[in-house]
Amino acid sequence: MRTPLIAGNWKMHKTPREAKAWLAAFQPLLSSTPHDHVDLLLGVPATHLLAMRDDARDLGVALAGQDLSQHDQGAYTGEVSGSMLADAGASHVIVGHSERRAYHAETDAIVAAKVQAARRHGLVAILCIGEQERDRDAGQAENVVLNQLRAALEGLDAWLAHEVVIAYEPVWAIGTGRTATAEDAQAMCAAIRTDLRTRHGNLADEIRILYGGSMNPGNVASLLAQSDIDGGLIGGASLDPEAFLALTQAAQEHAS
Ligand code: 13P
Repeated sequence: MRTPLIAGNWKMHKTPREAKAWLAAFQPLLSSTPHDHVDLLLGVPATHLLAMRDDARDLGVALAGQDLSQHDQGAYTGEVSGSMLADAGASHVIVGHSERRAYHAETDAIVAAKVQAARRHGLVAILCIGEQERDRDAGQAENVVLNQLRAALEGLDAWLAHEVVIAYEPVWAIGTGRTATAEDAQAMCAAIRTDLRTRHGNLADEIRILYGGSMNPGNVASLLAQSDIDGGLIGGASLDPEAFLALTQAAQEHAS
């Protein structure tokens, strides 16, 4: 029912030239592999979008910015607006990643404003939510995650399923090699969907919920086998075209 989404988040890696080389290496791999049941996306630095746009389009790989300004334009040195991302080739934008929350003091209110900005500019927001290890140890993981979810989507009454993707990324699993167990990840993604259903009814069944945090070719199948996990937001493993292909193949096998 929900097409799996395999989404890379390159973070601050690769130059535009290296990004083009990545796509050139991925092209023959992808063309020899069935992938008609999978959606593919790469979240890249804003500087890369124009360089990647045409090749990515030819491959059927969508592009996402990794952040956007909550403002539409103005005196905000260093910021990148939603319209700039869209004009440069992005169809999606990652919002509220834990690294933005931790290193750039992004509050729930700022994240909510960025979701609204994404919407104004026709970008699908990939909303990241996730608990810290101390929250999980204290038995507060679900509370923390659902509070982030509600805060970020507040005021979006009439939003549609295709305008948002949720990425559940437990902070302690990001870049650590420690993946959440498939059961724990499923439990949280199910709680997220239940919460969405209370406010948005059956629309919740159309919204994709991704897992992120040390997803790799070795653990992807068990995560995708969970009924409420509709794909992955993948950092480290997305930097390597062969690993990204393996993730794509796993999603294709799961969906077909
Ligand atoms: P890793 O896959 O490197 O753990 O990163 C996950 C992530 O933060 C994706 O947004």
